[in-house]
Amino acid sequence: MKTYSIAAIPGDGIGKEVVAAGLRVLGACASRDANFQLSIEEFPWGSDFYKQHGHLMPEDGVDQLKNFDAIYFGAVGAPDVPDHLTLWGLRLAICQPLDQYANVRPTRILPGIESPLRGVTAKDLDWVIVRENSEGEYAGQGGRSHRGLAEEVATEVSIFTRAGVTCIMRFAFKLAQSRPRKLLTVVTKSNAQRHGMVLWDEIAKEIAAEFPDVTWDKMLVDAMTVRMTLNPGSIDTIVATNLHADILSDLAAALAGSIGIAPTANLNPEGRFPSMFEPIHGSAFDITGKGIANPIGTFWSAVMMLAHLGEAAAAARLMRAIERVTANPSLHTPDLRGTATTQDVTEAVCAAVLGDN
Ligand code: NAI
Ligand code: MG
Repeated sequence: MKTYSIAAIPGDGIGKEVVAAGLRVLGACASRDANFQLSIEEFPWGSDFYKQHGHLMPEDGVDQLKNFDAIYFGAVGAPDVPDHLTLWGLRLAICQPLDQYANVRPTRILPGIESPLRGVTAKDLDWVIVRENSEGEYAGQGGRSHRGLAEEVATEVSIFTRAGVTCIMRFAFKLAQSRPRKLLTVVTKSNAQRHGMVLWDEIAKEIAAEFPDVTWDKMLVDAMTVRMTLNPGSIDTIVATNLHADILSDLAAALAGSIGIAPTANLNPEGRFPSMFEPIHGSAFDITGKGIANPIGTFWSAVMMLAHLGEAAAAARLMRAIERVTANPSLHTPDLRGTATTQDVTEAVCAAVLGDN
């Protein structure tokens, strides 16, 4: 029997609540499956750690993570710590050195859940957004000079490298090729951003030649928001920059019913470093401690983690369990206009996993 070592980083706010729920569900998956076990180590990193130690994780935090098979992450961010410190001090401080350059964000309308788009059902909305996850607008280049003076200047420089764009583009074409429709939309803003985004378009064209069976098109990001809203069925796989895909994936989650449902995988596709799995939402101060956070995004992230570890049957079983539970409106949390608690949903998913044949 295989044992996978998982680093769990619940982080802040509802991150702690949904990761606790996710670990229970993963425990049910492991006990239902005779093939593998999970060895979980929890790391108390995040804003509380920062208040005690002055940094969000220890200096050798990334080195500690390198020994694990995967990382299961909640969210980071607290009302009394600036958001750029928390994001850069933990989430990006893990993704960038572990070269998790491909961020994969599936969106579907799960059974029992209604899209806010009138008449749009599961058959019309089944997307995967591929987000470039290591450079672009979030490369961290830039600075501030003449602080506080009228002459103050701030620069926020986007970095697009041929190597980085080529990697994410090839990853996206491959993913599109693996899906039934073999359809990829490359999103940029290459009319206004005439350097990096034009490079992005040129590389898309080069890589497309390697994938003659993939149909692809280009969209400007602003027009893409319109297409996602008015013509969702025309889309399958999407690839976009770090910033653009960050925004589009929140929109995608909302169109599929709630941000609380949406999962993500931060992948190092070559497997040189562990990959990280997390819900796309943040620490949600407004509902922290109320026991009503929707844990489905964190559970779906666990599905992606199990699939990445090579446990396809366990991943499929957990996804079936999630769908069985979402199909029942009495198990919807308040973000889905229901009255269920995090605990109700967690117990129902565990029971569905254990009862699955
Ligand atoms: P958020 O995603 O935390 O919350 C946005 C809205 O969605 C809130 O009304 C919240 O209650 C709701 N929501 C989010 N997740 C939910 C869930 N699972 N169930 C039910 N409702 C849910 O985004 P916001 O408010 O912009 O950021 C709050 C903090 O989280 C900030 O510090 C921000 O920097 C951080 N953040 C961290 C992320 C991460 O660690 N990956 C991602 C996004 C934000
Ligand atoms: Mg985001």
